[in-house]
Amino acid sequence: MEKTFVMLKPDAVKRGLVGSIIKRYEQKGLKILALKMLQVTEDLAEKHYEEHRDKPFYRELVNFITSGPVVAMILEGPNAIKLVRLLNGATKAEDALPGTIRGDYALTTQENLVHASDSSESARREIALWFPELSF
Ligand code: TYD
Ligand code: MG
Repeated sequence: MEKTFVMLKPDAVKRGLVGSIIKRYEQKGLKILALKMLQVTEDLAEKHYEEHRDKPFYRELVNFITSGPVVAMILEGPNAIKLVRLLNGATKAEDALPGTIRGDYALTTQENLVHASDSSESARREIALWFPELSF
């Protein structure tokens, strides 16, 4: 079993897609281990995206993630990290295939609805960062 961190970004909440997106993870068979809605602080956003600090899109990304409430969760299942990224679809809007969350619902790369950990190291780091109250 593997755990991964998933965040439904402010556009998912604003567009009323929270239920539709969570349904896809559940239908696949992934288990929700933890879930909460929160307003992301600039500090949390900067820590979460620290790997992108020097990218040209970094400031806009932090502004976007702090622009409204998000839904954060921990999902569990066999190969959950890879599986959730497959369900989410490619980062760039023009590469996200139909059948994926981004491919079906997102039109731009910035407002791409979902975040998911990309490795076991990032899953461990992000779960600890977003759910410090939990001890796994
Ligand atoms: P990244 O970690 O590369 O993608 P993913 O979310 O698929 O792991 O980038 C983080 C977020 O930054 C991405 O979800 C959307 C945003 N972003 C841009 O706005 N422009 C870009 O060119 C890229 C690569 C990402
Ligand atoms: Mg990433």
